[in-house]
Amino acid sequence: MKNTQINEPLFRSFGKSIGSHVILEKRELAPQIKQIKIHAPEIAVKAKAGQFIVLRTNSEGERIPLTLVSWDKTEGSITLIVQEAGVSTRKLGALQTGDQIPNLIGPLGNPSDIKFYGFVAVVCGGVGAAPALPIAKALKEAGNTVISVLGARNRGLLILEENLRNVSDELHISTDDGSKGQKGHVSDVLKSLIEKKYDFQVVYAVGPPIMMKTTAEVTRPYGIKTIVSLNPIMVDGVGMCGACRVTIGGQTKFACVDGPEFDAHQTDFDELIKRLNVYPSEEKQALDFHHHGGGSFACCNPK
Ligand code: NAD
Ligand code: FES
Repeated sequence: MKNTQINEPLFRSFGKSIGSHVILEKRELAPQIKQIKIHAPEIAVKAKAGQFIVLRTNSEGERIPLTLVSWDKTEGSITLIVQEAGVSTRKLGALQTGDQIPNLIGPLGNPSDIKFYGFVAVVCGGVGAAPALPIAKALKEAGNTVISVLGARNRGLLILEENLRNVSDELHISTDDGSKGQKGHVSDVLKSLIEKKYDFQVVYAVGPPIMMKTTAEVTRPYGIKTIVSLNPIMVDGVGMCGACRVTIGGQTKFACVDGPEFDAHQTDFDELIKRLNVYPSEEKQALDFHHHGGGSFACCNPK
């Protein structure tokens, strides 16, 4: 596995005239999970926890929404984490330090509702740790006691462990196979903490939809306010296309402009999961095409 650290001479050579949206640093955090730092001063000055960007790796490429993991106003940079799942995210993951992202807009979406709640849990499933980190950090800065739960399928897939530990009062780890921390899901850890009388006022849950759904069912009987960051398919990211529609409390909302954070107990997760699985054959076809050296692959409109 190749770890690409920041290329200092290259970075210095950009000097004050550093190109817009140039990749400043790239690291592999786990198999198929890359962390990318991009020069984007106009986004770094405005970014807030919970917001996202949309980028394209070329002018005909698919638009990829990614939540902001961190940002540095002084350096003028933003950091994103991408899980290489389909053709577009693989193309993004293949870019190197010094490459330019031709198309990038943000910050988009509403910031997290950060305030003093008291005792807060931040529950992160797998790559969900990436959007959860700035939320945990902001909650800590707002004076909350932050108890974080980080889980992955196995120890090699745990990401941002130290970063989360640094912004949490306690960090609890779980792996599905028991290779690190408690064996089981993050929702099992949360349940055992609640049973041990951790008196959470709010639970934030970010990760795969099934994990957020299960977490919502853990907190529902206790009446603990639970907030999830939803990840439906997005196209424009600015409320025009309707691709990201979700049902919250029986009402249609657009995750990009009304969210991405919503009340977990009001969220129709079954619909979200169904809509995320609308294109398996098109995605497989695009991946096969990509593996055989194809260029861009045109997909149909969202259903
Ligand atoms: P994964 O399948 O490896 O699961 C990660 C962890 O989630 C597991 O280790 C477990 O602790 C928990 N989990 C999984 N299934 C569960 C269940 N049935 N009940 C309770 N907990 C469960 O996830 P991954 O491969 O790291 O992430 C991929 C998914 O996460 C994709 O669907 C992606 O779209 C989504 N994602 C969501 C966000 C977001 O903003 N919500 C951000 C990044 C990624
Ligand atoms: Fe188009 Fe939200 S992504 S409306």
